[in-house]
Amino acid sequence: KFPGLALTPPMGWNSWNKFACNVDERLIREIADAMVTSGMRDAGYSYINIDDCWHGERDSLGFIHPDPQRFPSGMKALADYVHSKGLKLGLYSDAGSMTCGGRPGSRGYEFQDALSYASWGVDYLKYDWCNTEGLKAEGAYKTMAAALKKAGRPIVLSICEWGTDTPWQWAASVGHLWRTTGDIFNCFDCIEDHGSWKSWGVMQILDKQEGLRKYAGPGHWNDPDMLEIGNGKLTPGEDRAHFSMWAMIAAPLIAGNDLRNMTGETISVLTNHDVIRVNQDSLGIQGFKYSVKDSVETWFKPLKGGDWAVCFLNRGKQEARVNFDWDGERVTDDLSGAQLDVSRQEYKLKNLWTGKISGSTRRRLNTIVPSHDILMFRMSAK
Ligand code: DGJ
Repeated sequence: KFPGLALTPPMGWNSWNKFACNVDERLIREIADAMVTSGMRDAGYSYINIDDCWHGERDSLGFIHPDPQRFPSGMKALADYVHSKGLKLGLYSDAGSMTCGGRPGSRGYEFQDALSYASWGVDYLKYDWCNTEGLKAEGAYKTMAAALKKAGRPIVLSICEWGTDTPWQWAASVGHLWRTTGDIFNCFDCIEDHGSWKSWGVMQILDKQEGLRKYAGPGHWNDPDMLEIGNGKLTPGEDRAHFSMWAMIAAPLIAGNDLRNMTGETISVLTNHDVIRVNQDSLGIQGFKYSVKDSVETWFKPLKGGDWAVCFLNRGKQEARVNFDWDGERVTDDLSGAQLDVSRQEYKLKNLWTGKISGSTRRRLNTIVPSHDILMFRMSAK
């Protein structure tokens, strides 16, 4: 894979969750504009990723072209536009003969497609796994990684085989992130049964990350799928919980909503600087679940410079009381060896959703978390 990319989890936008196959160049330009005017670019988002269905046909020499009705100006012009806004362009393909949406896949055309992407100025490739009969995931992704490297342009490779072939065990040297699960579904706590496949609510996806944190780090991330914030199904508390937890587990922050029409609430969640800073921490340590008490899960993430992030996630249908006595806890990160020692060191607590400094580890934390909501603090060592 191309080295030196995605040293912190990639941040951007992707068309699929909101628009599915309904993509065209006007939408992408308007989304790029909105990424800037909403403040999201300045908050750290950079990739504008077109998912499935941008494709037209291959020509007689095998080169792929965008759908001429939907992308009449071509991909190079679109990439130039996105770049002119200080953003990057992502595309999508599939390791099989056809994409999930029935467009031409890259199987047998990997090197040729990589050359096209590089010549257009593409910066990110999401590579899907439909119609791959007879292929082995590791080999297929290695082929595309080699093709991208050969093409010479730094392109992030996003591996999307849904965790079927335990990508965490082989993908760190092949791509920059790998999906760990099937698709996210726009609900907080549900499973959607499509018959032959299922998609998963925010909490279900979170549970599926168990045991995977040791595989993540700078340049190679677990990908629990894209955000559903702003897509009209989650409550404000659920939006906060979704965003906070994706920050805690060092997940890519890829918005999946219509950036042209956002409520103030959606913008304030997606651009919460302090929460993004936890996600983008340069140590790149994926946080861990420390304890579960009734409906409340407590999660910790060690940060650069001795700071920590902590979340109290209430998954229950009723509000819950959090009564956390810092002195009585032994928080250790068994990966990095970091230890939270409140007897040697007082930590100030900043509530990242109110922005207020709320006490320190000298005092027990005793407060209420509403149903389907979260409390998130940054614990500062100084
Ligand atoms: C399956 C992937 O998991 C989704 O994220 C999306 O890319 C669709 N395919 C597109 O067909």
